[in-house]
Formats: sequence, structure tokens, C-alpha cells
Amino acid sequence: MEGKVGFPEVRLRRLRRTEGLRRMVRETRIGVDDLIYPLFVISGSRIKQPIQAMPGIFRFSLDELSPEIEEVSNLGIPAVLLFGIPEMKDELGSGAYDMHGIAQEAARKIKKVNPELVVIADVCLCEYTNHGHCGVVVGGEVDNDKTLELLASTALSLAKAGVDVVAPSDMMDGRVAAIRKCLDQNGYMMIPIMSYAVKYASAFYSPFREAVDSAPQFGDRRSYQMDPANVREALREVEQDIWEGADIIMVKPALPYLDVISKVRDHFNHPLAAYSVSGEYSMVKAAAARGWIDEREIILEILTAIKRAGADMLITYHAKEVAKWLSNL
Ligand code: PBG
Repeated sequence: MEGKVGFPEVRLRRLRRTEGLRRMVRETRIGVDDLIYPLFVISGSRIKQPIQAMPGIFRFSLDELSPEIEEVSNLGIPAVLLFGIPEMKDELGSGAYDMHGIAQEAARKIKKVNPELVVIADVCLCEYTNHGHCGVVVGGEVDNDKTLELLASTALSLAKAGVDVVAPSDMMDGRVAAIRKCLDQNGYMMIPIMSYAVKYASAFYSPFREAVDSAPQFGDRRSYQMDPANVREALREVEQDIWEGADIIMVKPALPYLDVISKVRDHFNHPLAAYSVSGEYSMVKAAAARGWIDEREIILEILTAIKRAGADMLITYHAKEVAKWLSNL
């Protein structure tokens, strides 16, 4: 740099003067292609049940699913993230790897309505176990290695049902490798793994646990999900998952963890997704309902911030409303 250049020659406000200029120098944009919409599917029929703490979000039975899929598709949202709520829960979460389980049937149904819509399936046992933990419980603890086999079977059954991507969210060590191996051995070598690589033991998940009825019946998830205080450990988690074969990395929650997103972006070249979770959504909706915030502006600012931090993909319950705003509907 030659000499010292500053005010009054330099005026940073020059490029902020009109919306036209601001558009030209804008560094981060969110577009409909960034969005992934989570979807809750429940067994039974004629169910479109609102989730109390998540206004605008519902649990759908299979026969009620088509209009939702059509709406998401018409809005141009490229992908949904699928969660199943089974009729029966048991000790080993057998509904998760049932060939005709709720998520498997939902995947088949979605593919019938719109084969182009990318179906990402959450792979975890917690929605399917009666104790609500993400794995097999042995002697009061979640047994890592016993869980791996069940997660691999879950991923395989979902691949067979036609999902495009599997997304393990259980936080067991070694699960990406176990899933990759099982998929490859069965001819599903082209199914990518989106790994919830960095998943914190977060209080922001509580509305989701109401949605899928998966609150742990004893203890908590701190022995497998990450301590919110740690960031170096997040990089180790990502390193392991990439080494085991993850194709897409995820950080979750999003807004309280922008520093983590940013560090992961700096250290790794894999596509990066951020999951703006249920509690983040509920807080915005609750404040907006009281007229305390400008809902639209807040949502767009939050998602822009998550993308600015380094996320390529935004998993958000706001996806439909954002898609509408982006296309001026
Ligand atoms: C399943 C899972 C959870 C979420 C996504 N997958 C809950 C949990 O770990 O308790 C949370 C999503 C959200 O809060 O929106 N393991």
C-alpha cells in the first residue's frame, strides 16, 4: 500500500448510498438452491398435526404428504430432510431399519410425487427407541459399537427405499465408516453421506423432541453429543468423518455456532451444511408473534449470517417462507 489512505479521500459510505450500489458490492447472497426443508412424517392416516412450539410446522401422515411435497417442489426448494415418527418404539429402535418403516415409506411416496426432489434421510435411532437415546443402551449407557450395525442397516434400508442422501445424526464414533462400508457392499456406492459431524448437546433441540417424541427417558445426550464449550474438538470430529468417507459435513445448531462453521470452512474443503434447529426457529416465531421483531428481516439476516460464516447449505424450518420471499410470492 502506498502511503496512508484514509478519510476524507476514503469514504466507505460511498458504496452504501443506493440499493443499486449495495447490490453490486454484496458479498453474501442466499438463494433457493441453498435451502433444505426438514419434514416430519408420522405413521397413521389423515394426520396433519401442528407442532406446538413450531408454528407452521406439522407432522404429516403419508396420505397427507403430497400437497406438502408439491408445495416444496413448486417453490424450487431442492431438498427435504426426512424424519420419521413410528407407531411403536422399542428397546432397539427396530422401526428405524424396518424395510417398510415410516421413513422408508415416506421416501417411496415422495419419490412418486416428485422424483427430482432430493430426499435426505436422517439416520438415527432416537425417534424409534422407547428410551429416546440415539443408540443401543447397555447397562445404562449408550453402547457405541453395538449401535453401528443398526445404523448401517438403517442407512441401507433407506437407500433401498430410494433416498438420495443419508444423514447420520447419532454421534457414535465410527458410524460414517460403518455406513459407507455397508452401502458399498450392497451396491449403493453412489449414495452420499451427509454427516452431522459437529453436533452439540444443545438445549436448542427441545421443540424437535416434542415433534418426534424423542426426549431421553433417562439421562441426557452429553456422553455422545458435543460439549457446547468446544471448538477444537469440532475440527477433530470433522477430520474423522471425512477420513471415514463423509461427502458433506454438517454443523448443528447454526446461529449460536457461527464460529464453528467458520473454522470448519477454513480447515476443510468439503461441502458444508448448517442446521438451524428447532429452538432457533421457535425463538424467532415466538418473538414475531408478539410483534417484538420484524420476522422477515430477522430470518433473512440470520440465514445470511449463517451463510456468511461459511455454510453452503441451509437446513431450516423457514425454507418455505424464505423461498416465497426470494421469488417475491
Ligand atoms: C436426532 C436428531 C435431533 C435433531 C436432528 N436429528 C435431536 C436430538 O439429537 O436430540 C434436532 C433437530 C432440531 O432441533 O431441529 N438425533
